[in-house]
Amino acid sequence: MTITEILQFADRLVFAHRGKHLDDIQETVIKGVWQGKTYDNIAQECNRSESRIRDVGYQLWKTFSESLGEEINKSNFRSTIERLQIQEKSSICRTNCNFNFGSQTLYQYQKYPQDSQSKDIAKTTFQDLSIAPTINHAYFYGRTKELEILSNYIFHQKTRLMSVLGLSGIGKTTLVKRFIDLNIQKFDVVIWRNLKLVKSLNSLMTDLLKKISIENQNILISDEQFTQFLDLLSRQKCLIVLDDVQNIFISRKFAGQYQTQHTEYQNLFQAIAQTEHQSCVILISQEKAQEMTALDRELYPIQCLELGGLDNSSGIEIIQEYKLQDREYWLNLNNTYLGNPLYLQYICTLIKDIFQDQVSQLIAEGNLIITEEMKLLFDTSYQRMSDIEKQIVLKISKSHENVSIEDLKKSCSLSSIDIINGLQSLKRRYLLNSIKNNNTLFSLSPLFKEYIKNFQMQN
Ligand SMILES: Nc1ncnc2c1ncn2[C@@H]1O[C@H](COP(=O)(O)OP(=O)(O)OP(=O)(O)O)[C@@H](O)[C@H]1O
Ligand SMILES: [Mg+2]
Repeated sequence: MTITEILQFADRLVFAHRGKHLDDIQETVIKGVWQGKTYDNIAQECNRSESRIRDVGYQLWKTFSESLGEEINKSNFRSTIERLQIQEKSSICRTNCNFNFGSQTLYQYQKYPQDSQSKDIAKTTFQDLSIAPTINHAYFYGRTKELEILSNYIFHQKTRLMSVLGLSGIGKTTLVKRFIDLNIQKFDVVIWRNLKLVKSLNSLMTDLLKKISIENQNILISDEQFTQFLDLLSRQKCLIVLDDVQNIFISRKFAGQYQTQHTEYQNLFQAIAQTEHQSCVILISQEKAQEMTALDRELYPIQCLELGGLDNSSGIEIIQEYKLQDREYWLNLNNTYLGNPLYLQYICTLIKDIFQDQVSQLIAEGNLIITEEMKLLFDTSYQRMSDIEKQIVLKISKSHENVSIEDLKKSCSLSSIDIINGLQSLKRRYLLNSIKNNNTLFSLSPLFKEYIKNFQMQN
């Protein structure tokens, strides 16, 4: 068993018992104990006191003992889990539906919880995650709250259409894949597709229907595919992820507008939200579309999770991976680069390559440094903006202070409605912050502002 499998297994136990996923420190303790380390060693590695680690361990063994119906402690943890895992495997082979551990059933895998009509349909579990990224659990930090939110929306609120939104590199794809790794057994079908690689809605539908369809059921042609797809979503508990959805939106127009050849997606997304079924479709996108929020939430289970940066301790874990010096500046570095894990990877690589691991040298530069890779990401975002949005960001970048709509009216040659729609579109790209005041004020992140000043103002 790999450490990732152990952590997933432990997470399932803890979640089933306490309704909460493992946090970072619990994972560190499990990993350490699995590798035969003492509490003292683990404490030193993660800069925590030994008593804190011991307490975390005590709570974990208590949870595991209660879940599994037998005494688990630090010394027998590994041998017990290995034995139970063997039992679990044989149980899966035998029934393909129960995960039994010891005397207690940890998780009943109910294929058709409410749908009595479909009970007699023979189905097998199907997964196609061939193009989803592999997440190394040991290098996945934080996001405990976001994983809980996803679980709550998908399992408790029965959300049928879920979107995960945010800036490029903020960790959307990684978060959703981590959620799948933790919950894959709870679905009959899990499929991951990337809209960058899909030619048309028609080809996506045909592909999905082939993958999900129940044995011997013929695939229908075009306009009936929609109905057939929705029918399958109601017969089986499917999780379908569509990544990089911004690829079906138009460039150089306001955010989240469908390209003419892709307008049918809008109908599909609405139908997924409005039709009664037991599945969930997750849309991952850098831009928010109307359908991702506008429907009546009371009536249609639809939710969106807008991802911000990693929290300080998770950002610092990424910096730590690069073994940089000047720890006193790490927090500053995480904040400057917005807790964006991809920006952090880029800047840490630059510090290694150019500044001999010394964060202080980067800080001493004074200016915000935008690496070539970050510039390319910002270029893509900038090129996707409408002319109105470009005018607005250029104006905001010139201002030393946060700006109001009135300020923009005075300084841009745009109508009020253009300014308001432009601001909304920038918010839907996660490039604009609004500051609540008597009078709402707007700002760009210092990093994006620096990019505009350096690379777009001269144009
Ligand atoms: N919680 C995390 N802990 C550690 N690294 C992370 C985390 N989330 C993301 N990363 C890393 O950050 C990088 C960017 O993540 P990811 O590809 O998920 O971003 P994204 O939001 O999907 O970006 P894009 O919109 O460009 O597809 C990846 O290298 C990933 O491994
Ligand atoms: Mg992504």
